[in-house]
Order: sequence, then C-alpha cells, then structure tokens
Amino acid sequence: MKPMRIALTKGRLEKNIIDLFDRMGLDTAAVRNKGRRLILPVGSTDGKGFEVVLAKAADVITYVEHGVCDLGVVGKDTIAESGGSFYEVLDLGFGRCRFALAAPNGSVFFKGYKTKTVASKYPNVSRAYFSSKGMDVRIIKIEGSVELAPLLGLSDAIVDIVETGSTLRENGLEVIEEVMPISARLIVNMACMKLRKDEIEAFISMLEQKI
Ligand code: PRP
Repeated sequence: MKPMRIALTKGRLEKNIIDLFDRMGLDTAAVRNKGRRLILPVGSTDGKGFEVVLAKAADVITYVEHGVCDLGVVGKDTIAESGGSFYEVLDLGFGRCRFALAAPNGSVFFKGYKTKTVASKYPNVSRAYFSSKGMDVRIIKIEGSVELAPLLGLSDAIVDIVETGSTLRENGLEVIEEVMPISARLIVNMACMKLRKDEIEAFISMLEQKI
C-alpha cells in the first residue's frame, strides 16, 4: 500500500507540526531542508513512514476532502470559514489564538439602529456570528491587514484573528467580544478513516501522547 499522505499548513503552524513529528521520533530531515520540493518523505522507525505535503490552509482542506491526502493539519479558523466534509479528530493544542470582534477604542458597536458594517477575511464566520445574535450587519471581505478597514472609515468594526493583541493595540482598536477560540486541528478524509482505520488510529494515538 502507498504511504499515508499528510497535508500540513505552511507558515505559522509549520514549525509546531515539525517539532511535534520530532517528538514522535519521526525523521523530519527532508521536511526541515525542503528547498522547493512540495512532497516530502517523513521517516519512521518501523520503516513505514509517510509523505508530507506543504500547502496553504484552505488547500489542506481541499486535498483532504478529495482524498488525495489522508490526513491534514489546519487551523480551526480555516475549518470554521471553509467548512467541508471530513472528520476533525484532534485538537493539537498549538496555534492558539481567537476570533474576535474588534472596533476603534471607545466605540459603542452594539448600540444604535443604524446597520453596522464589519470587515473580515472570514465572511462566513462573521455572518454566522451575527446571525446567532439576530443582528443584521453588512459584511465586507478584506484579504489582509483587516485592521485597516475601520482606520480608513470603511467599516465600524472587524472580525479577525487576535493572537497577542499587539496589532489591535498598535492601531487603536480593542476587542469588543470574543467570537471563537482557535487552535490547530487534525482532520481525516472520510473514506480513508474507514479504509486505513488501523494506520490512522495508530497515528492519532502516537500524536496524542506527544501533544
Ligand atoms: C493575523 C491577524 C491579525 C494579526 C493578529 O494577521 O489577521 O492581523 O495576525 O496577531 P496579534 O494579535 O499577535 O497582533 P497575519 O499576520 O496572519 O496577516 P494578514 O493580516 O495578512 O492576514
């Protein structure tokens, strides 16, 4: 049988994942010295090993959903925004941050009758949040540095990821309400979960011991 393929989110989560693989006793030399290669072998002491694919967060979900990767590691932020059909099996405990509603210091977002405008890189998360409050809000999708939107006068507030809070602080913004906690999750393709059950369960229990 071909080796299991795991899609990993490159960037912020990458180092945490590779460190975790090291703690599991896996040989991560190829991933650490990847150069421009995109599919990399990760050795295991039993000689089986698997293959790692480094991809953008949303693509991790696409690859796992379509079954071209058996497993994936991706942030709950992307899962909440993209949705999809897969099993979310484990909270890996790293990449901790949160979604929050934030606005310029001292502004009163939840008052008044005027429809508010909110900018976000995560329109689906934002829509679900305001609809759970029964609030009608206009949402504008922004691709990055969402904090700019209220500063430029485009929106009353933002729904964005807050980690240390520095970006908000340095731009005169403050959290109005927490929306959802975020951390890295292990996801599994639905068919693979049945077809490679033993291998996947063994991998999950190995991971669980080291997180
Ligand atoms: C994220 C997020 C905030 C910032 C929060 O942006 O959108 O801007 O990090 O982190 P902090 O609370 O520690 O300041 P990212 O750096 O991923 O870039 P982006 O704005 O291009 O999405």
